[in-house]
Amino acid sequence: MSTHNVWTHKGTFLLAAVGSAVGLGNLWRFPYLTGENGGGAFILVYALTIFAVGIPILIAEIMLGRNSRRSPIMGMRFLTRTHNTSRAWESIGWLGATSAFLILSFYSVIAGWAIHYTGLMFTGSMMEVSAADVSQHFDRLLASPALLTLYHTLFIAASALIVGLGIHKGIEAGLRVLMPSLFVILLVVLGYGALIGDLGAAADFLFTFNLADLSLEGWLQAMGQSFFTLSLGMGAIMAYGAYMSGSASLTRTAFAIAVVDTAVAMVAGLAIFALVFGAGLDPAEGPGLMFVTLPLAFAEMPGGALVGGAFFILVLGAAISSSISLIEPVAAFLVERFDMTRPQAVTIMVIASWALGLLTVLSFNLWAEGTIFHALFGRSAFDFIELLTNIFMPLGGLLIALFAGWALTHSEVMKEMRTNERWFHIWRFLVRFVAPAAVAFVFLRSIPQVEG
Ligand code: PHE
Ligand code: NA
Repeated sequence: MSTHNVWTHKGTFLLAAVGSAVGLGNLWRFPYLTGENGGGAFILVYALTIFAVGIPILIAEIMLGRNSRRSPIMGMRFLTRTHNTSRAWESIGWLGATSAFLILSFYSVIAGWAIHYTGLMFTGSMMEVSAADVSQHFDRLLASPALLTLYHTLFIAASALIVGLGIHKGIEAGLRVLMPSLFVILLVVLGYGALIGDLGAAADFLFTFNLADLSLEGWLQAMGQSFFTLSLGMGAIMAYGAYMSGSASLTRTAFAIAVVDTAVAMVAGLAIFALVFGAGLDPAEGPGLMFVTLPLAFAEMPGGALVGGAFFILVLGAAISSSISLIEPVAAFLVERFDMTRPQAVTIMVIASWALGLLTVLSFNLWAEGTIFHALFGRSAFDFIELLTNIFMPLGGLLIALFAGWALTHSEVMKEMRTNERWFHIWRFLVRFVAPAAVAFVFLRSIPQVEG
């Protein structure tokens, strides 16, 4: 018995998955982590894990969702029963819910910064200001827990409203406009960055691969980012897979998601670093990178107030289509398991995540130093939560790969994949051996180095 309705259009899953994948991970997190980790080597590990590990696991995760047609936790429970395997596999669902809850907590805080900048752009108060003014402005925003909490609350409430009312399933038309517009405006910013900045230096920085440059924690961050950016290993894709039309192609869809997501990250990275090197800013600026470079470009651009305002609105749209995919799997579980109404389930998930998000808010000001997180883990609460997601998402992905690779039968997989035997064997080799080995390799190298 299937507990889910199925999306009738073949393309709806792709659109929803791209909506989930493309977000702050591409625009904010990818450039900032790349900058902190010295550029090319980080990108090399990131790209390798996307294509050798990410795509096969993406196929696996969609497959588990579509095969079970349930929310991730209930879906894994169902699959372990029908396959007579250990209930330990249910940990995939629980781990995913934990990751979703952790990610939403800081995602919403950062998206809140974009709310602030949307206002700044449209009012024109950032026009023709200097680089120093732009960065001072950002520092002042971060110094205010009240302002950060306000924006965090607004963003998470808007996301909760959309999922709670169930209208996240009707935003297909919106995504059809949003995604191409975001890409176009990024190209405009890239073009402008090439004009006033230093695109050559950006390309050198991003595409000079020297693995020796990458710290051991950098390896973990690069792999974590490849999962984060694809929304992978935490149930979001599984939850959407449960609604996917049975006739859409798994492999083609997974490739398309990875290619679109990577393209957005690369264009954003090139644009931001062209501006960074052109203006002599610091590539290792950290989480503020996007918020100090792009406003600077808009400040000098003709019509920058409008273009900048439109840009940050599109960023918010991309962020909200990701945050709703963080809420959905947990909410669907609470509905299926405890018979809650959808609004109740969403409220519980979101209030908990909101409260945890206050730790991230304070990590940028009152608790930037000297907390228990610094004493125990050598980092702020925000950095610690990011570290956990860099571990939990690949770990979830590893378990998904192993379950799909070893527990599902040949005929079940073929029913979902409907490709020829050759592709089946390539995929199964990747999920059985390559993906688990790659994840284990990075874990064994880097986790013992994460200093406490
Ligand atoms: N992939 C999203 C981004 O890049 C973040 C995300 C992670 C969304 C996990 C859902 C699940 O912004
Ligand atoms: Na992404």
